[in-house]
This record gives sequence, structure tokens and C-alpha cells, in this order.
Amino acid sequence: MKLLVTGGAGFIGSEFVRQGVRKGYAITVLDKLSYAGDRERLREVDQDIVFSGADIADRRSVEDLFRKTKPDAVVHWAAESHVDRSIQDASPFIEANVRGTQVLLDVCRISQVKKFINVSTDEVYGDLGEEGQFSESTPLNPSSPYSVSKASADMLGRAYQRTYGIPVLTVRPSNNYGPWQYPEKLIPVVVLKAVNNEKVPVYARGENVREWLHVSDCASAVFNILEKGKAGEVYNIGSGQEKRNIEVVKTILRILGKPEKLIAFVEDRPGHDFRYSLNSNRMRTEFGWAPGVTFEQGIEHTVKWYLEHMEWTLSKMQSKH
Ligand SMILES: NC(=O)c1ccc[n+]([C@@H]2O[C@H](COP(=O)([O-])OP(=O)(O)OC[C@H]3O[C@@H](n4cnc5c(N)ncnc54)[C@H](O)[C@@H]3O)[C@@H](O)[C@H]2O)c1
Repeated sequence: MKLLVTGGAGFIGSEFVRQGVRKGYAITVLDKLSYAGDRERLREVDQDIVFSGADIADRRSVEDLFRKTKPDAVVHWAAESHVDRSIQDASPFIEANVRGTQVLLDVCRISQVKKFINVSTDEVYGDLGEEGQFSESTPLNPSSPYSVSKASADMLGRAYQRTYGIPVLTVRPSNNYGPWQYPEKLIPVVVLKAVNNEKVPVYARGENVREWLHVSDCASAVFNILEKGKAGEVYNIGSGQEKRNIEVVKTILRILGKPEKLIAFVEDRPGHDFRYSLNSNRMRTEFGWAPGVTFEQGIEHTVKWYLEHMEWTLSKMQSKH
């Protein structure tokens, strides 16, 4: 099967590409290499894939690529992905996440794509208090410019499925962590600050809860959906491993042998969602999928990975734009 993978040089997309190559898929990566994209993540599979450095919102380039590669399926990871950046400026989020998705869906209308996997997020559901879970039928109620742009892409997918019969499948993963994450997200930031004995910034009192999904489990879930999922359906992908941010930070400090006095509580993110929690029974009952990595195993391995790849991580911090 020929796959077109957008955002394949990003954190999760590159893990999906590495797994896809091992599974024998013929993969073309479409990634404009924004500040968050890096081909270094694909080095081990570079010989096995085709790479196109185009923008998903550039219709002519996308059409050319579809004509040349004739993909059987599109797995759409490309996005502006950082909530804090969306609060600073929503425009790149609308351009990439909404218009970019619309261009891809439009090009699918004139091609023979059998599946379009639209990667969404648990954040489109809004937030929860201490109790409750989001199911696939929970109404969307996004809070940040980022989650609004992702919810808009979901609605476009729904409209193109219903109006033009494009076989769109929507997947909503929870918070991913693991190797190769751009060091603006919580876990790599904490590792970087703590190893340098710098203050570790934590929003408010660190009470917010996220459901932590290892990146390898997220990618394996999406392969299940690609291979067995049904057009028009939505699939939540969660690990069931909920942690408060403060617990995550303290765990990392403990692994690094650093004192908790490095923690510095800072002013909360505006509109900060309190808790996300997904009901992912559908993935488990329909596909027999289950996460393979516990948070305890995954965080140990992840911290070790950043220590062993400090040069890469620091180079990303230095080139931040
Ligand atoms: N990281 C998470 O915890 C998480 C959780 C749920 C859903 N998601 C979703 O998963 C997807 C991947 O997330 P990630 O964390 O790997 O993001 P990332 O920021 O690490 O990677 C995004 C990739 O998309 C590329 N890109 C951005 N705009 C583009 C454009 N206009 N044209 C072509 N390429 C473009 C970037 O160069 C980068 O390689 C996103 O759609 C995100 O919304 C992420």
C-alpha cells in the first residue's frame, strides 16, 4: 500500500513513518519542515522513503505530488501543534491546520484515495473536571486557538466525507510523549532545565491532568485504524494513564536525581484546560489494540533518550523561531 504521510518529519509523524517502513509500506513524506520539523528524525529510514518539502496549503505542489505518487491512503499528521504558540498568534494555525487540511481534502476529491486518516486531538472536546471521560460522540467544545483549528479540520473532514464521499477517518489521540519531541513541550523542557540546574517552570500549581500516551503506542494505534478502521468513523486513542503535571515533573526530577526545589510555579496559561480523559474502549474492542508502554517504563526511557541526545535537543532550542 502506498501511503502519503503529511508531517512525517515531526515528533509523532516520524515515529509513524519509522514503524511504517518496518511494516513494508511504500511511504512518501510531505512536510514543509517548519521550526518543529526535522529530517534528522527520519535518518534511519531515509533510504526507504520519498521526501517532499512542500507546504500542505500549497495546492499546486500537493496536486503534483498526488499525480506523481498516486497514494492509496493519506495519513495527515502535519499541523502547527503548540497551544502556547497559538495563544501568541492564531494565524499560522488557521493556515496550516484548517486551510492546509482543506487543500488536502480537495485534492483527494480528484484522486483515488481509499482512506484519509485525519489526525485530530483529545483537546477538541474541551476539558473535564476531576470526573468523567470523553467518548467519540462527545460534542466538540475546544478552548484554545490550537484546538479550535483542529476541531475545524475535523468538521471539514466530516463535511467532505458526507458531501463528496471522501473516506475520512478521524483519530483523536491523547497527550503524546517519547523521544524526538520538540523541546517546547513539558517533558523535554523539564529535562533540559533540570539537567542544567535551572528553574523548572510549571503552570499554576501543576494540578492539570493529562492522559500520557507513548508515541510508539500512538503510531501503532493509527496503523490499526488505517488497516481496519471504517470511513466516517471517529477513534479515540488514550492510554488510560492520567497524571497531574506536577507528578510528571516530580517523576522526571527523581529520575535525574534533582531536587524538587527547582520547581517554579508560574502564571497559568490563559484558558488552560484542566483535564482530558478519553474513553478508548472502541480501539480495544474493535481492534484488540492496547498500549504496550506503561508511563513508568516510558518516562524512564524518554528521560534517558534526551540525556543521550542532548546535542540534538539543545540545537533545537538554539534554532527556535
Ligand atoms: N503531540 C501530541 O501530544 C499530540 C496529541 C494529539 C494529537 N496530536 C496531533 O498529531 C499531529 C502531530 O503532532 P506532533 O506533536 O508530531 O507535531 P509536531 O509539531 O512535532 O510536527 C508537525 C509536523 O508538521 C509539519 N508541518 C507543519 N505545518 C505544515 C504545513 N503547512 N505543510 C507541511 N508540513 C507542515 C512540521 O514541519 C512538523 O514536521 C498534529 O496534527 C497534532 O495536532 C499531537
